[in-house]
Amino acid sequence: MVTTTTPTIMTVAEESVNYLFQGKVAHKVPHIINGKGLTISVADPKTGETSVLIDAMTGAAVGALGWGDEDVAKFYEEGLKQSAYSFPLTMCNENAQALAKFYIDNSPKDAFAAALWCGSGSEANENGMKIAYQYHKEKGNTKKTKFLSRENSYHGYTIGAMSLSHGSRTTPFKSIIVADEKTPKLPVMYPYRYQKEDETLEEYGDRLLEAYEKKILEEDPDTIIAIVLETLPGSSLGTVVPPPNYYKGIRKLCDKYDILLWLDEVMCGTGRCNPNGKLNCWENFLDDNEGPDIQTVGKTLGSGYVTIAGVLVSPKVKNTYIEGSGTIIGAQTYASHWLNCYVARKIQEKILATGLTKNVFEKGNLIGKKLTKLLESSPIVGEVRGLGGFWSVELVKNKVTKEPFDPKMDVGHALTDICFKNGVTVMGLGGCNGVNGDHISVAPNFTITDDDVSEIVTRITKSVEEYVEILTAEGAI
Ligand SMILES: Cc1ncc(COP(=O)(O)O)c(C=O)c1O
Repeated sequence: MVTTTTPTIMTVAEESVNYLFQGKVAHKVPHIINGKGLTISVADPKTGETSVLIDAMTGAAVGALGWGDEDVAKFYEEGLKQSAYSFPLTMCNENAQALAKFYIDNSPKDAFAAALWCGSGSEANENGMKIAYQYHKEKGNTKKTKFLSRENSYHGYTIGAMSLSHGSRTTPFKSIIVADEKTPKLPVMYPYRYQKEDETLEEYGDRLLEAYEKKILEEDPDTIIAIVLETLPGSSLGTVVPPPNYYKGIRKLCDKYDILLWLDEVMCGTGRCNPNGKLNCWENFLDDNEGPDIQTVGKTLGSGYVTIAGVLVSPKVKNTYIEGSGTIIGAQTYASHWLNCYVARKIQEKILATGLTKNVFEKGNLIGKKLTKLLESSPIVGEVRGLGGFWSVELVKNKVTKEPFDPKMDVGHALTDICFKNGVTVMGLGGCNGVNGDHISVAPNFTITDDDVSEIVTRITKSVEEYVEILTAEGAI
């Protein structure tokens, strides 16, 4: 939780030791001290010097309510005063029930019927794999043992979630994740690179759907448990918006072949990209009665204040369990955690009551519009893309040919560092085009104002211009 009291900062001498085994192990990275609204204070681990940044990315798209929100302390206090522990195999608690009801009530009617709460997006996806497999088993079908997901995707860093993922983050662990035969991949959805010049977006969507059906038939539909997709591919591809017919077509394919449609909205969901001032990203692309059978969520659900994520299931999935064994096999100690569920619900209630999801949808789209205009002529900007509160800029060596930079240059991270120096956080990543391709993304707190939009856009544009000068001087472009 963000604290407003003066934090204890270690001395420079002590700072030479990194006690954490995460990220860069050999040395310390900047330390967050606190945050307020859209800004964060960060300490340099070597000098102890602090700087204030506009947190345009909120870590990895985690922030929603804004940093240092004073109501959250009250939510914690209220929740803690009554808090008790419930073990999910035998007990539950009203806060977990209430959070599930909140999500169901604020989604299209009959889209979801129940939820399982856990601690992280990766864990939600692990649970999703079990839930989806057991769903078919409950119907007496044990032949279904494969998950179809997409090339260049990211679903988390645990073993199962990495198996659903594809690309540079999973390749190093290929030898120990679930085998490719059980987790085949569908072609990437990426209009910027793969829509043909003589093709409309819709025609590209149709071509993808044909390829998907072909893959389903090749793999044997009777063996496929679910199709798992990030609704708006985030860190993997950089907020690629799908063709308008894409998800509708996939929904039909899933129904035709008795395959579950599972949308991973850990990064793009829970208010970040909803067009109706509510929660789900898929409402941009699917009608109310076409929603997923399973949906995983996380990040903005706890808005960085509590560790919470979850799996939502449709009435079809829930009823199958009820008519079958009536039991989910397995339980995790901290599932449905009392305090986390309570605080998350209070945060979500405040977000919806104050119209923040509507706000971030509008202001985020304004960021996209302004970045598109200002970066249009930049020699290293291939495309600005995104939706609602989640936008990305793809960086290219050659704007005309779309040639990516040499991955060794790690331009996404290099630009992230320049943005940091210019007082704005972004997330730079490589690998959106498989082994190469770079993008930076932004996903701000939902409290963002027009002034924040202008400041974010100004700082990013300045950073891109500075980077162009550096690359030109180096002869890299
Ligand atoms: C789409 C998607 N799914 C799952 C995850 C994993 O979530 P977590 O980091 O909370 O485990 C992420 C994280 O970035 C994600 O973007």
